[in-house]
This record gives sequence, structure tokens and C-alpha cells, in this order.
Amino acid sequence: MSENCRALDHEAAKDEDYVEGDYWSEPVGVDTPVLYFVDLEESIIYMEFVEGKVIKDLILEVNGEWSCEENKVQLAEKIGVAIARMHAVDVIHGDLTTSNLLLRNSNKSLVVIDFGLSYVSSLPEDKAVDLYVLERAFLSTHPNSEDMFTAILKAYEVNYKAAKGVLTKLADGAVREVWSDKFGVTRPHM
Ligand SMILES: Nc1ncnc2c1ncn2[C@@H]1O[C@H](COP(=O)(O)OP(=O)(O)OP(=O)(O)O)[C@@H](O)[C@H]1O
Ligand SMILES: [Mg+2]
Repeated sequence: MSENCRALDHEAAKDEDYVEGDYWSEPVGVDTPVLYFVDLEESIIYMEFVEGKVIKDLILEVNGEWSCEENKVQLAEKIGVAIARMHAVDVIHGDLTTSNLLLRNSNKSLVVIDFGLSYVSSLPEDKAVDLYVLERAFLSTHPNSEDMFTAILKAYEVNYKAAKGVLTKLADGAVREVWSDKFGVTRPHM
């Protein structure tokens, strides 16, 4: 294991200190910025500023803390678990890209942001499209990251009991048609 990976193991130990009840999303188990206040008149959402790093930047770093394969797989597992937990409560994020995922500095928790396109659906097709959007984001933004995406799907499968139906839809290609109907020929915003 490289020096970088040892550093991460040390950080992972600190994860035990994480108090889930600190976050409003605790029952779902997905870390999101704390919502402070919604000003309906001014259309302003006041939320916590998460001290952390954007996952896109972490993956693109060449010699960073997260550059070694072991740590990339750990990162992928965190992503897969977060999506599994959202889908378990029928939350479709709608814009899953590595720009909308942060890693919290304090406890290395994966934080999901940017729910502007999210909606509620129990349909496996919708969940498959959510994963497909992320797959496209990975392919276009992070070349040679197939192993990472495979690790995301593996963690998703292990942590979501209805994952099989979603992954079947993702594999059978029909999801691409659903995605095209919704988004046309343009790529998802990243
Ligand atoms: N709560 C937050 N704490 C820390 N950084 C944040 C937070 N919300 C957003 N950011 C930073 O701002 C960037 C853009 O935020 P966000 O994804 O919400 O908007 P956007 O994608 O630019 O806008 P939109 O999707 O509405 O077009 C994020 O990638 C992240 O770097
Ligand atoms: Mg965004």
C-alpha cells in the first residue's frame, strides 16, 4: 500500500467519530449540506457551506491523496452507498456528476449537493437513468475510470436490496432511450 493510502486509512478511522444526527438527512444516511432557511419571497436557499473538496477535482488530481487505486475504490464505494441510500427512499438525484459530490474535510464523508433536478420515483427505469447520467459523466470527465464506475455499481448493489432490477435496466440499453427522451442529444450538465 502506498504512502497516500496509509494516510487515508488514518482518516477513515476518524469516520467513527461522525455523529449522524448532526445532519437533517440522518434517517436516510446521506450527507447533504444542512438546510438553514428557505426565503420563498426572495427565492433564496440558505445552506451550510461544506468545507471539502469536489470529487471531480480529487479524481483528476495526478499525485494527490486520492490518486492511488485503493483510495479511488474507497471513494467509489462511498458514492455507490450514497446513491443506494437515495434510491432506497425513491429519491432520484437527476444530475449525478462528480461536480455534485463533495468530500467533507472533517470526516471524509461523501456529501451530495445540487438537488435542483431531483424528484421522487419508485421506477427502476428512473433509477437506472440516474446511474446512466453518472456513467456518462465518468466516461466524459474521467477517461480510464471504468474500474471506479464498476466499484460504484458494486457498492450500489450491495447496499440497495432492489438494485438488481435497476442494474438490469441499466444493462439492457432501454435506459438510453429514456435518457434521450428527457434530455435530447445534449449531454447532462456537469
Ligand atoms: N453547500 C455547499 N458547500 C460547499 N460548496 C458548495 C455547496 N454548494 C455548491 N458548492 C460548490 O459550488 C459548485 C456549484 O454548485 P451547484 O452544483 O449547486 O450548482 P451548479 O451545478 O453550478 O448549478 P446548476 O446545477 O443549478 O446549474 C459545486 O460544484 C461546489 O463546488
Ligand atoms: Mg452542480
